[in-house]
Amino acid sequence: MRRERTLNHDLDPWDQAAAFDADYLHFYEPLLPAELNAREAELICELAALGPGRRVLDAGCGHGRIALELARLGCDVVGIDRSAVFVERARHDAAASGLGGLHFEVGDLRALEAEREFDAVVHWFTSFGYQDDPSDRALLARFLRALLPGGRLVLETANLFQEALDPSGTGVKRVDRDLMVDEKHFDAVTGHLHVHRTIARDGRAPRELDFRVRLFSVPELAGWLRDAGFEDVAAHDGTGAPFELDSDRLVLVAHRPRSAAADRTDAFPPAPGSALSDD
Ligand SMILES: C[S@@+](CC[C@H](N)C(=O)[O-])C[C@H]1O[C@@H](n2cnc3c(N)ncnc32)[C@H](O)[C@@H]1O
Repeated sequence: MRRERTLNHDLDPWDQAAAFDADYLHFYEPLLPAELNAREAELICELAALGPGRRVLDAGCGHGRIALELARLGCDVVGIDRSAVFVERARHDAAASGLGGLHFEVGDLRALEAEREFDAVVHWFTSFGYQDDPSDRALLARFLRALLPGGRLVLETANLFQEALDPSGTGVKRVDRDLMVDEKHFDAVTGHLHVHRTIARDGRAPRELDFRVRLFSVPELAGWLRDAGFEDVAAHDGTGAPFELDSDRLVLVAHRPRSAAADRTDAFPPAPGSALSDD
């Protein structure tokens, strides 16, 4: 009998809190220095035509590294993340910086209710693709609704081609004597990068966890964005140059239509509580 592969629906839930925690910060922060965060925030401002006084939703803001830099550039930023550890850290850094225009919330973006509030929604550094496909598509529709007409979504993620064809299939991060090892496998049928992560820290017994993230070709994700009601989708690499096969990262910029005629409402997700959740 022919074996069927299940496509990307009704996935097993996985523990996001285990992946986005203090260990993540321990290994990733050294890779995300202040200069890089500032440069990325400048690129976001350029791609989303942002400047002083513009309202920005940093959706999946993590520990606030981009939100703080956007605030430094004069934007009014609301950061939402479901990791309480990250949001606590973001609030701490915001207070220490003395910057105004920053507000952080612990929350699940799948319940985002904002409507015509923001000049830009920023979904940065592989924050997209952790749910099943219908839930992730619904999230794009929520982002559209949160934007003012003419507002822009800036979505940054890994380059499918680089990850799928990486011959090593392994990533190692080292901080002093601590190690984070990722063994990766790309499933060409479902479009998921599966990661088995082992963390050995402070001489303790290694901790292991599994997670997955959906990766996209440009035409596929641009199609999802158009289905959600966005228009004028453009693809860049992590520096803002045009996206190429060997680009380090993928940055898509998409616009909420300005004209009411082009602005669809039929793609909007159902009310909270009805059929979104996979965990
Ligand atoms: C790889 S981190 C990137 C964080 C941040 N954007 C940055 O540039 O450092 C991905 C973040 O997305 C958040 N996230 C993913 N799905 C989410 C959801 N449904 N609601 C809220 N946060 C979510 C995670 O908690 C995590 O902090």
